[in-house]
Amino acid sequence: AAPVRYEAENATISQGLVESNHAGFSGTGFVNNDNVAGSYVEWTVNAASATSNAVLAFRYANGGGANRPLDITVNGNLVSNDLAFPSNGWTNYQSVTINAALNAGSNTIRATGATATGGPNLDALDVDTAPVPGRGNP
Ligand code: GCU
Repeated sequence: AAPVRYEAENATISQGLVESNHAGFSGTGFVNNDNVAGSYVEWTVNAASATSNAVLAFRYANGGGANRPLDITVNGNLVSNDLAFPSNGWTNYQSVTINAALNAGSNTIRATGATATGGPNLDALDVDTAPVPGRGNP
């Protein structure tokens, strides 16, 4: 199925601001989390039915010159530790993709800065709850 986009600027933000000074974002802006470990963006994502292999694509930009890893939790469970968000510039938005299980109904997906630089700028989370087998990730 087609992924559904959840904008970061509409998510819950802890220690960060919505900004729009680096072009290429979708929606009305992106989240610039504070440069501290523990700053996060948390999305509420709906799945029509439980799935073991939803595709989660985090759209980001990182002009900081070094990897800015994020810890990803789904419904409070750590599903990806220190997921890499390599340096790519502030206007060259790209996506980092993982697979995760989701419950039927509402799910919380949190991306937390794992180091003192905080995370990259986060633009959106694209969720495909029913990826087509054999076609790979979007
Ligand atoms: C710069 C940049 C921000 C970014 C920040 C950072 O200030 O303009 O968009 O979030 O660096 O290093 O986190």
